[in-house]
Amino acid sequence: MGPTLIKFFSLLAIASTTLASPCPYGEMAERGLLPKSEADKFFAARAKREVAVEAQMEVQMKAKRDAEHASQEQFYKRQLLGGLLSLGGGLLNGALQPFTGQLEKLGVPTPQPVGLAEVPDSDHPFQAPGPTDIRGMCPTLNTMANHGYISRNGITTFAEAANACQITLGFGYDTCVFLSALGLLAGGDLPSGMYSIGGADSRVPNTLGPSLGISKHGFFEVDNSISREDAYFGNQADFRLDRFERLVNITDKYDGQFGNSAFAEERVLLYNEAKNNNPNFDAGVRWLAVTTAERVFIFRALPNGTDETNANYANVAPFYLNETFPHEWFRRSTAYGLADTGADIANLLASSPQVTIPGQNEGIDNFVPLGIDLASVTPTEATCFLASAVFDETPGFLSPALVDNYDLVEAFLNGAVAPFFAPYGCNTTVSKPGPNAGDSTAGVSTDCNDLVNGVYQC
Ligand code: HEM
Ligand SMILES: *[C@@H]1O[C@H](CO)[C@@H](O)[C@H](O)[C@H]1NC(C)=O
Ligand SMILES: *[C@@H]1O[C@H](CO)[C@@H](O)[C@H](O)[C@H]1NC(C)=O
Ligand SMILES: *[C@@H]1O[C@H](CO)[C@@H](O)[C@H](O)[C@H]1NC(C)=O
Ligand SMILES: *[C@@H]1O[C@H](CO)[C@@H](O)[C@H](O)[C@H]1NC(C)=O
Repeated sequence: MGPTLIKFFSLLAIASTTLASPCPYGEMAERGLLPKSEADKFFAARAKREVAVEAQMEVQMKAKRDAEHASQEQFYKRQLLGGLLSLGGGLLNGALQPFTGQLEKLGVPTPQPVGLAEVPDSDHPFQAPGPTDIRGMCPTLNTMANHGYISRNGITTFAEAANACQITLGFGYDTCVFLSALGLLAGGDLPSGMYSIGGADSRVPNTLGPSLGISKHGFFEVDNSISREDAYFGNQADFRLDRFERLVNITDKYDGQFGNSAFAEERVLLYNEAKNNNPNFDAGVRWLAVTTAERVFIFRALPNGTDETNANYANVAPFYLNETFPHEWFRRSTAYGLADTGADIANLLASSPQVTIPGQNEGIDNFVPLGIDLASVTPTEATCFLASAVFDETPGFLSPALVDNYDLVEAFLNGAVAPFFAPYGCNTTVSKPGPNAGDSTAGVSTDCNDLVNGVYQC
């Protein structure tokens, strides 16, 4: 790839971080989604490297970015007036502001450069995890740890994981901050920002009370994971080769693509399986957000960035079976934001052959629906499902440490998460601890952390 093409991709990448639109310009042109005149202009610019058109695009992008920053500032001022930033935070000029007071040691993630880049770079070689390193149920966090993009021992922080998520997978600042915030609340130590990517671990401080690990069931770790079994049946962190192979078999029906169609089929299969067999099957609001997001993430994060729509076995399997990046692999060229995620989730739900009703088993053959209608979900509604995962129901399944310090949770959510959902009009009012709050069951790590070709080596 020539330097001009790389420069061009970077330009598009900048566009996508600032547009917050479901489709960046170039991708839209390539998919035939732009009006012919605009698409012609785009392709002509690319072919001729037409400086004037590029410059014009840059001006448009800057205008969009300025508008975005202006609305961030408005939201920031409203939050200040409402007393919602009592411990700092907030989003200004595209970056989170520092926290203060009891959260002053909580480092915040920073926006990272965007654009096509080979991953790993030479500073981040693969090293198999050692016996005291922790691994968990997120294949990409495990991969980042195996390459030292986050701490190799599996004890990371809010900022470190969110930055690594941008650097390694090319996901947007908004998406990465959201995911890492969810991880921190699921089982970390809020004042220091530290969390284990698996279960509880003595290397994570217990400033407010026991830190239970992100695999603590019911908050981020949910039923119906792709390659992990439901917590009811055993260790929810361990990779299960049979589950992965079942998925691979489904992808065989769809040209070997780990794409929307394969997951539309697979998620219904898993839903029914759990509904019929897991007496504690919990398909609540966090299940809805997490199980749909993790599936669309596979085809948006794992393809080679030079061939972004090709989610084939060669690109997906190394992350799962060896927890490493594919050989000569490039991350995405454009940032993948919360709006993109919402659009993909809406599409996945619409594509599933059967409506998977959110609710909960209270014993087998006793499924209690929640009353959320998934029959037709808009992209914005789906983006707001992600917000619901932390705002609506946060109090349920929070560790006792956080329930007892709910003012800190509230200050953190207002300062680090709410601003990213403001553009979509999601309800980001933090609700109070509910009936399931204060669950103290710790998460678990994988029984063995060294995975080679889908088989643990201990
Ligand atoms: C940066 C912070 C992140 C945290 C704290 C995190 C945490 C988690 C957790 C707790 C789960 C378990 C969910 C479940 O029970 O089903 C999970 C699963 C998963 N995550 Fe992440 N994640 C992060 C980033 C990402 C990113 C950027 C991707 C992009 C590909 C990703 C891809 C996945 C996938 C595909 C699964 C499903 C694994 C399976 O069951 O096969 N994660 N993650
Ligand atoms: C996948 O398909 C192969 C070939 O048909 C079959 O032998 C295998 O049992 C299937 N695996 C799973 C886990 O379904
Ligand atoms: C995983 O690593 C093993 C051992 O290096 C290798 O033989 C295998 O092909 C790798 N699998 C994938 C899917 O990359
Ligand atoms: C990714 O794309 C590059 C450039 O086309 C290619 O050289 C490389 O082999 C691809 N890697 C994978 C894992 O597909
Ligand atoms: C937003 O959520 C809060 C807390 O759950 C609720 O009290 C409030 O009525 C909701 N606001 C809107 C506009 O739906």
